[in-house]
Amino acid sequence: MKIGVIGTGTMGKNHVRVYSELKEIEEVYAFDVDRSKVKSLKDYGVIVCESIEELLHKVEAASICVPTKYHLEVAKSAIEKGVHSLIEKPITLTTKEGEELVHLLENNGLIIGVGHIERFNPIVEEIKKIIKNPLYVEIKRHNPASARITDSTIVEDLMIHDIDIVFNVLYKSVNEDYELYSAGNNDLCQALIKFGASVVSVSASRKASKKIRAIYIEEEKFTIEGDFMNQEIYVYRKPGRYGIEDERYTQENIIEKVLVNKVEPLKEELKSFIACVKKGEEFKITPVQALNNLRICEEIRRLNGVL
Ligand SMILES: NC(=O)c1ccc[n+]([C@@H]2O[C@H](COP(=O)([O-])OP(=O)(O)OC[C@H]3O[C@@H](n4cnc5c(N)ncnc54)[C@H](O)[C@@H]3O)[C@@H](O)[C@H]2O)c1
Repeated sequence: MKIGVIGTGTMGKNHVRVYSELKEIEEVYAFDVDRSKVKSLKDYGVIVCESIEELLHKVEAASICVPTKYHLEVAKSAIEKGVHSLIEKPITLTTKEGEELVHLLENNGLIIGVGHIERFNPIVEEIKKIIKNPLYVEIKRHNPASARITDSTIVEDLMIHDIDIVFNVLYKSVNEDYELYSAGNNDLCQALIKFGASVVSVSASRKASKKIRAIYIEEEKFTIEGDFMNQEIYVYRKPGRYGIEDERYTQENIIEKVLVNKVEPLKEELKSFIACVKKGEEFKITPVQALNNLRICEEIRRLNGVL
């Protein structure tokens, strides 16, 4: 398959690297309005295009990795040329733009996915297999400020990864019936979501001095602790036995380390996108789901007065 990458900045460069490693890909084409960004990619055997039109003419599918404010415009060009596309998250800058994009996609037969990369983190699939009825969920995504210039607040930049997991994995079946509360600003934010009796806390920050990517879930019979970075999961069972030994009170605890097959989430995401294009199947993260994620982000920002 001939694939394209449009926008080869921080994220696009990674798409180029991963595609160039995949055996399913014959040729990788790249285009960036800033020529200096594509030059270094020649080491990956990339074919540099002079214009977006040239790239769209050559490829069957493409990753759209331009800044979010250009997602709609670039996606429209790709759709017009019949090119299957994987759009980096968030789907668009505003829900209004997202609605326009979703509307354009109705009955056009193209495979259009959105790169909510954590869905391809293997701990998410493993946790999905373990959970039955979460009573309390806490997800933290905190890090120091990065030099990367971003055109979004902390909500669309970081928290959206966890919004996607909460609404499309953990609470998929009840995701339309929720109460939302939030406090925060441009750089840090906490949102509380209630699904019936179940409480979810999601927080994100770019003010931390420590990088945290953690998930914690309490159920009636067990507690799960997961780390998105190390791709590790521990399950804690309720104390099995209490006793007295040598005049000391003892308690038997069971902690299971879940076996996780560690992978690079971006590699899994791009492999999945290519497979969907080949088979004509829907990508795991649909534009409709991504638009819903963005709607929730907007609701959170509205609650915080950051619009
Ligand atoms: N999935 C993730 O975890 C993740 C992480 C970082 C960024 N992103 C997303 O990826 C997208 C890009 O972010 P980034 O950090 O790589 O930005 P970036 O600024 O590092 O790179 C964007 C590149 O796009 C180029 N560009 C701008 N307009 C263009 C156009 N019309 N055609 C071709 N190239 C154009 C720029 O010159 C730049 O090189 C954003 O939507 C962002 O939200 C996702």
